[in-house]
Amino acid sequence: MKFILSKVLGLPPAIVILLFTCCSVNTSRAQNLQEDDLALVEGLLDQMTLEDKVGQMTQLTLGFLSTSQKQHDGRPKKVDWEKMRVAIEQYRVGSILNSAGNAYPIEEWHRVIEGIQEIAMSQPLAIPIVYGIDAIHGVTYTQGSTLFPHNIGLAASRSRRLTTKCAEITAAEARASGLRWNFDPVFDVGRQPLWPRFPETFGESSLLCGQLGAEIVEAYEGKGLNEGAGVAACLKHFLGYGVPASGKDRTEAYISDLEMWEHHIPPFQAGIDAGASTVMVNSGSVNGEPVHASFGLLTTLLRQRMGFEGVVVSDWQDVIRLHTRHHVASSHREAVKMAIEAGLDMSMVPNEYSFCEHLIDLVKKGEIAEERIDESVRRILTLKVKLGLFEFPGVESDAVQEFGLADYKDIALETAEASLVLLENKGDVLPFEGTEKLLVVGPTSASLGPLHGCWSYSWQGSVEDAYPEETLTVVQAMRAVFGEDNIICPVEKGFDDAAHFDLDLNSSASEADAIVLCLGENAYAESPGVIDDLHLPSEQIDLARRAIQTGKPVVLLLLEGRGRLVSAFIDDVDAVLLALLPGSQGALAIARTLRGLSNPSGVLPFTYQRHSGDLIPYDHRFTSKVTQGPPGVFTDEGFRPQWLFGHGLTYSNLKLDILEVSSPQNKLGEPVEVSYQISNPSARDAVKTLDVFVGDDFASGLAPRKRVLVEFDRVTVPANEEVRGSITIPSDAFGFVDREGEMNFEAGTFTVEVSGEIVTLRLSD
Ligand code: BGC
Repeated sequence: MKFILSKVLGLPPAIVILLFTCCSVNTSRAQNLQEDDLALVEGLLDQMTLEDKVGQMTQLTLGFLSTSQKQHDGRPKKVDWEKMRVAIEQYRVGSILNSAGNAYPIEEWHRVIEGIQEIAMSQPLAIPIVYGIDAIHGVTYTQGSTLFPHNIGLAASRSRRLTTKCAEITAAEARASGLRWNFDPVFDVGRQPLWPRFPETFGESSLLCGQLGAEIVEAYEGKGLNEGAGVAACLKHFLGYGVPASGKDRTEAYISDLEMWEHHIPPFQAGIDAGASTVMVNSGSVNGEPVHASFGLLTTLLRQRMGFEGVVVSDWQDVIRLHTRHHVASSHREAVKMAIEAGLDMSMVPNEYSFCEHLIDLVKKGEIAEERIDESVRRILTLKVKLGLFEFPGVESDAVQEFGLADYKDIALETAEASLVLLENKGDVLPFEGTEKLLVVGPTSASLGPLHGCWSYSWQGSVEDAYPEETLTVVQAMRAVFGEDNIICPVEKGFDDAAHFDLDLNSSASEADAIVLCLGENAYAESPGVIDDLHLPSEQIDLARRAIQTGKPVVLLLLEGRGRLVSAFIDDVDAVLLALLPGSQGALAIARTLRGLSNPSGVLPFTYQRHSGDLIPYDHRFTSKVTQGPPGVFTDEGFRPQWLFGHGLTYSNLKLDILEVSSPQNKLGEPVEVSYQISNPSARDAVKTLDVFVGDDFASGLAPRKRVLVEFDRVTVPANEEVRGSITIPSDAFGFVDREGEMNFEAGTFTVEVSGEIVTLRLSD
């Protein structure tokens, strides 16, 4: 760094350091930077023109700087180096994002990153580019990277350890590719089951979202952004993106203050407290106000109240969309002004230069103060310094060694197995013994898209030939685990092939001992994944009915990112394995689990709904499920999900007993210890996934929620053994948040539930 600075100023490094350490620097901006790092940032700012500064606040997509403008035709594009020079030399652009088309080979990434940084570092101020990427459930855009279960599957596993491991590998493979800023993790809460980005969330509980998301931030940034495989995390999408009223992507959410504090703010606060460097803004609006134009959310709440000090980046094209989509700005220029005034640091423009032109003009005409621009540029330069980009802007040879290590696949398999949720198992039809003849049918049986979902070597994840050749489909993995001769698969075709439904099931099933019926969704990302109906498509329901009519045992395998309704036929199915989107080792995990080589342990991170008109979340209030029949007759029938949040079976018939619930003096403000015993009467090792819920029986003023997840754990119980243990419930779990976000505590009785076992606890002041 000293070298670069001295190059910039044409002075020997030592003099440069001396010069800058003598300058006064506002320590509140220090953000753990060394003195000379701060000096570099301030020194650069002093020399930058307005154009240089605005360029740093501009992010373009690689597709715009490539030889073809067709961004989503599924083919990788070549960089157009002339366009790149214009972006960096003329517009002083400070950040680039995305892959142009599908995943690149790692060598291509190295060429792209080296080429970009060479241009950037040859400019008079030698400021490196910070490259941003969506490395979601693995390094999406690098060929051959390891793809793990999506967040919804990590949440089903309830495993902090595996969540951390997957994130560490993602960071290592990103940094090996030369990519150091990851637009991950999603901290939106999955409380709108129609929403197509549901699988990117950790589900319905803000505790799961906050704690598992924070594990990821910690894995990306915990050791320092420039230590080992550090990458910058990006908490997204601030705030309220996950609950659009209609379920359609990027549309308006209406969220009361109380719901904000109960569900949406806590996960982001956990991510900020874990040290995340960047935040991305919600493309939609909250209570009628587009978030990109909200000073209240981006400055008063995010910076002033929640204490975020890093870089705030817009989402795709969302500044201009304040004009074109939200209609709150009457021109592009006004849109830029609104977003900057609201608190934005960087605009993901990403396909043209009007942002730069308007922002320069706004400052020149005195409509935006240059000091406001300096604040943002200071944050962006600080991020670049922390990432070590000034020292090594290009590809680091040590980091490259960390790509594709053999044990990454083992972690992907272990995580996929831990994420599978066994929802039904009538008459212990599962696991199979391995000698049965199995008929494998259905649209998700022979495609890779449904196993991986969004952000899988392509944006949508549905480009089948973008997957590594060795990736197994469900039926291929079934053959590998059960033997070729035991698997009958009459239609080994892609998801959309009509042949899946034209099948004569009676004749196909005649030789089979059981049917593995593979239903669910093909891959989708963002708005293209919008649906109008939460039920599975009618042809899948029809196929299920025909499978049931054969009279053979039917095992339903669901590959899907959200809980598609199955109530039309589910009562007649023998077993249900919910695999969600388990990633590149997912098919093997499924086959091994069906065969009993792995004992399922995942539990639902969301309420699996039964009726489309009964979408009540797990942590509802007492009145949410009350319905009125004849006048004056009230019943509790308004909440009848298919499967409850936290539900999940094992093959071991585990028995849980709560032994004691205690706190030092049974007073509020103390943690509460729950001790338990779990017995495993089976001949196979098992893992019991524990969910601890607390419900306040009575509260004055605000109606209490009945059952809120406050802790979770995984406990290994060896075959034929009993295990005793304890779990601590933090004292805050017995308080409740009010509309202002303040915690309140009231003495009284509380219902404590550990995975279905309930005790009452009285706490005094
Ligand atoms: C998505 C973001 C993503 C960005 C960059 C947007 O459409 O909403 O989650 O990070 O694109 O690819």
